[in-house]
Amino acid sequence: MEIQVNQPLDRLNTFGLGARAPFLARPTDADQVRSALAFARERAMSVLVLGGGSNIVLAHDPEGLVLRPSMTGRCVLEDGDDVLLRVGAGEDWTDLVAWTLRQGLWGLENLSLIPGTAGAAPVQNIGAYGVELADHLHAIEAVEIASGRSRIFPAAECAFGYRDSIFKQAERDRWVIVALVLRLSRSPHLRTGYGTIRQELETMGIASPGPIDVAQAVIRIRRSKLPDPSVVGNCGSFFSNPVVDADTYARLLASHPGLTAHPQENGGFKLAAAWLIDRCGLKGTRRGPVGIHPDHALVLVNYGGATGRDVLALADAVRDAVEHRFGVTLQIEPRVV
Ligand code: EPU
Repeated sequence: MEIQVNQPLDRLNTFGLGARAPFLARPTDADQVRSALAFARERAMSVLVLGGGSNIVLAHDPEGLVLRPSMTGRCVLEDGDDVLLRVGAGEDWTDLVAWTLRQGLWGLENLSLIPGTAGAAPVQNIGAYGVELADHLHAIEAVEIASGRSRIFPAAECAFGYRDSIFKQAERDRWVIVALVLRLSRSPHLRTGYGTIRQELETMGIASPGPIDVAQAVIRIRRSKLPDPSVVGNCGSFFSNPVVDADTYARLLASHPGLTAHPQENGGFKLAAAWLIDRCGLKGTRRGPVGIHPDHALVLVNYGGATGRDVLALADAVRDAVEHRFGVTLQIEPRVV
């Protein structure tokens, strides 16, 4: 297992932040993961697992070993109306979704064009347009960082929630995810109820959509709102959408009639953080090399040469403004290192 020394990470995080890794490993199978972990263990080094780098803010140079899972492979384990598909953690998520659709394996269409790797997807339980990874995850194969032992996590043990999983909570920093087993279907079950999907399908002139049409609609919506990280550095939504209780929602609605919110099963209301930031007049503002994207208030962007500190200073200013105007505290969604 080759371990590279003193490696730049700017191309390995979609924000394009210029940190360096003292040691970098790109294992292509579970045995290589174990070798890289043994290298770190022998030197009492910490280990940072870096997937597609699309949900991380590198505010400092990481210490120890940066491990970028690079296992590829797509393999049907069980075929029928339901299909179990095993995919290597290093597979690019967008390529994988497009490939499943070409195979007639349905389920991931609403999750089209999300940057990142398959292995990183369960950590924050990626979600878009009414679908979350958890809806299609059967199991996760992982290697324990401390011991190198393998473990299967059935989906029910992953404590999935909104942008949340056991890998962000109790099992944080303990595992390298090496593969996912996804549950897909040969029969389409379209989910077009969320946001502007139906409207987009109408604009496309499609009256009876199939899964590929839904994927195309999602891709068109994302392209119209979210900046392409290969053009301008960003990590998608920078804050999670805050959930407030019914009283707080009623109070806010009384003074802000246009407030955008979705009722939750627990009686709370999930507010659109983008709406709150937008109403503070911050969309499109710039602060040195960083700014808030002109087309989406929830996306912080690196116009070139930004440091993690620049990003976090802007994030603080956004949080202060929203707190001051609405009394709501925003939480940063990506991992800050
Ligand atoms: N809005 C504004 N101003 C803006 C942008 C949006 O007022 O500049 C309003 C919109 O009018 C809309 C509401 O805010 O009513 C929500 O906006 P949008 O539909 O774009 O969704 P979001 O809540 O900002 C979430 C996810 C996205 C996901 C979309 C679609 C989070 C933190 N973000 O964004 O996920 O693609 O829904 O499902 O939950 C990501 O996690 O990185 C990500 C991009």
